[in-house]
Amino acid sequence: MDDASPPPVSGRLLDGKALAARIREELQERVRRGLEAGRSRPGLATVLVGDDPASAVYVRNKRRACEQVGLANLHRQLPASTSSEALLDEIAALNADPAVHGILVQLPLPAGLDEAAILEAVDPAKDVDGFHPRNQGCLLQGRPALRPCTPRGILRLLDETGIELRGARAVVVGRSNIVGKPVALMLLERHATVVLCHSRTRDLAAEVGAADVVVAAVGVPQLIRGEWIRPGAVVVDVGINRTGDGRLTGDVDFEAARERASWITPVPGGVGPMTIAMLLQNTLEAAWGAAGEAG
Ligand code: GUN
Repeated sequence: MDDASPPPVSGRLLDGKALAARIREELQERVRRGLEAGRSRPGLATVLVGDDPASAVYVRNKRRACEQVGLANLHRQLPASTSSEALLDEIAALNADPAVHGILVQLPLPAGLDEAAILEAVDPAKDVDGFHPRNQGCLLQGRPALRPCTPRGILRLLDETGIELRGARAVVVGRSNIVGKPVALMLLERHATVVLCHSRTRDLAAEVGAADVVVAAVGVPQLIRGEWIRPGAVVVDVGINRTGDGRLTGDVDFEAARERASWITPVPGGVGPMTIAMLLQNTLEAAWGAAGEAG
């Protein structure tokens, strides 16, 4: 950087926790009005296989959030030794249950279970995670369908900043089916110019340095260095990595990136709470339709 470079802008916090709390209040009100109008209570089934402690925390938070906004929760806790056939039977029963409008199978599944077959067994109309190939195909083609929760939450966060996505250069780092690929498609749908980077990208620093919007979703602690960020860029950090001393850290070097970003999500308290809020919204929409109105 030479003397002519702009002064550091010190990014404003893109507070997912506060936005998610607001959305949850709105959803709670929509549920209340819908029930008053005689609709049946929307229900989310959570399925947790095995005893991964991080997954247990995530599922507990999702169940609590259901309770808070007035959604019914049906929980299925299955041992790590569960066979694919037994899990498929469980999903078939939830598909057939009229009180269940959304089904969430927490990932990762224990080794030995056929994840693709299990996600494909969920009724696409109840696939509130948006992981079914049919729903992902609809996203690819720009057709209405249930959309994955984390990408949906990221778009809501970006809208909160007021940034014009049309024509903006968005760089997504990470190509998972859960976050990287769907968020790239959703940014493209909003007319951003999208670059999808991954572990084989030749010059990640240069790609990130050209971005108006950076979405980091790789699961590598602080891979994205602060000095890579173009001054004024919006930075969304999807990473949740546990450090040696038990703290949580994202995929972005937060302190240094904040010096240059216009907006940046904290970890924790950024994308994570938005994922849960969007799960609730998807469940409400699966039950009552995309408009989600009481009436
Ligand atoms: N594991 C990590 N993220 C997710 C998610 O959004 N949904 C599910 N079902 N499992 C996950």
